[in-house]
Amino acid sequence: MDLGSPEQDPEMKEEYPSVYVGREEDIKKSERMTAVVHDREVVIFYHKGEYHAMDIRCYHSGGPLHLGEIEDFDGRPCVVCPWHKFKITLATGEGLYQSINPKDPSAKPKWCSKGIKQRIHTVTVDNGKIYVTLSNEPVKYDSDFYATGNFKVIKTPS
Ligand code: FES
Repeated sequence: MDLGSPEQDPEMKEEYPSVYVGREEDIKKSERMTAVVHDREVVIFYHKGEYHAMDIRCYHSGGPLHLGEIEDFDGRPCVVCPWHKFKITLATGEGLYQSINPKDPSAKPKWCSKGIKQRIHTVTVDNGKIYVTLSNEPVKYDSDFYATGNFKVIKTPS
């Protein structure tokens, strides 16, 4: 699979210590939670026994992913952005879309990846406590645009 070669972002090299965000028993009930981790808003999903964390705002136009439904597309669990229905894989942050062949309109549309669009963070569980470690991949992902500066407008109650 070709995920393209994203632009390098030297500012993302910093190592962030992991941050406690909540209790395992709570997220297992709610299946999602939001948190502010080192001043970055993230959503954590608990889906089919696995944890996934990503930037809370959709890479497309900043939609609130913590309000999106989880659905499988092409066998891959995705969050569907509530604003324009873009599909983002929980495991990798790839944007998925369906491609059709205009020369063969009767052919079944195929699921394709646009590459990684949403920054994914690491979730660890220790003794019933959930921690998030921010990704410091030194590349620019589209969701970075909405995770910093003036666009960072979803406020999680403290
Ligand atoms: Fe998410 Fe447009 S803002 S699909």
